[in-house]
Amino acid sequence: MQRGLKEYIRKFATTLLTERLDPASAAAAVFWGIFIGIIPIYGLQTLAAVGVALLLRLNKPLILAATFVNNPLFWAPTVVASIELGGFLRHGSFQPWRLLIVFSAAQLKEELFSWVLGSVVLGLLAGGAAALVTMAVVHWLTPAQRSLRQRIRFVNRTYAGSARYDRGFVRWKMRLDRIFSLLAAEDLGTGTVVDLGCGYGMALCFAAFGDQGRRLLGCDLNAHRISVAQHALHALNAETSVCDVRDFALPSAGLILILDVLQYLPAEEQLALLKRCCAALEPGGRLIFRVHDRERGLRTALTLGLDRLLFSAEHVGSRPTILCAAQYRSALSEAGMEVVERRFRNRLPLAHILFLARRPAVESAS
Ligand SMILES: C[S@@+](CC[C@H](N)C(=O)[O-])C[C@H]1O[C@@H](n2cnc3c(N)ncnc32)[C@H](O)[C@@H]1O
Repeated sequence: MQRGLKEYIRKFATTLLTERLDPASAAAAVFWGIFIGIIPIYGLQTLAAVGVALLLRLNKPLILAATFVNNPLFWAPTVVASIELGGFLRHGSFQPWRLLIVFSAAQLKEELFSWVLGSVVLGLLAGGAAALVTMAVVHWLTPAQRSLRQRIRFVNRTYAGSARYDRGFVRWKMRLDRIFSLLAAEDLGTGTVVDLGCGYGMALCFAAFGDQGRRLLGCDLNAHRISVAQHALHALNAETSVCDVRDFALPSAGLILILDVLQYLPAEEQLALLKRCCAALEPGGRLIFRVHDRERGLRTALTLGLDRLLFSAEHVGSRPTILCAAQYRSALSEAGMEVVERRFRNRLPLAHILFLARRPAVESAS
């Protein structure tokens, strides 16, 4: 087999096995797998499981594995339990158990109805219970989730002395925004971290976990957020200032973050800023930025609508400017960066793309 094909198959298998294994998605995959495995759609279960996995973007191997609750060992107890549960729901009491073959046609129809009803309820109950267990197991046991929890605790502790509203904002943002689980899964490099439009400076703090002497630099136009950041990050090697990202003197950096800020700038200034960031990165350094995803239908509309509200609440005086993904991609490629894009759904129904760009450790000769 050719090397390229082998590599493709290896990558495909890795993606299949590891996609969307965060606690909520893993729990959803197990729930649907068990539900589909219990309801009597024999012969169609694999098809249904793959269909649901594609529709809800769940881990396919996990959902398929969960449908194996329908196996020769469990089949009889599941059917009996479904019929009994269905009978109980319809008649208020468990019915004496009899073999289906001794029923008349009318009784058979009755029992089949009880079976279908009972299996749906049993599927919901068993799927729900297994989903809760899965969520707890994935949450507590996987190293990535453990590390994410530790980082989030570190950030929450760092902002514990902030005013109530600010502290609460940080906690909710850490809880709801999936950007932090994505960042925790990335190599955040070494050396100076710069966060352009840093707001409260949460991402700086998040990046400093594990290396609290790391140099952190941030700027934002919002003076209140910067004062919260300065107060909270005083024990770290951090310097944050009220400054426009366009005027911020970029030092040589190992990591530059721009999270939900580019849309405040006109198109050409966004691209100029990205170019400047790429030039400021050390070899092997990373530029990570998040922008809205323009190609996600209703979610895009919601994301833009929310941003317009934010813009008007902050009296920004312009509308959010979002380029299409290809424009960001080509700006990064032109600057010689290696680029990976992650489209992701947040817990709130918002649509974002995370661009993860790396300056090659060894620059190519061309
Ligand atoms: C949606 S918030 C994101 C804050 C932060 N990056 C985060 O993820 O929590 C956008 C921030 O960008 C800041 N901002 C907008 N335009 C800016 C500019 N030209 N220079 C510096 N900061 C800017 C705003 O003040 C605001 O705090």
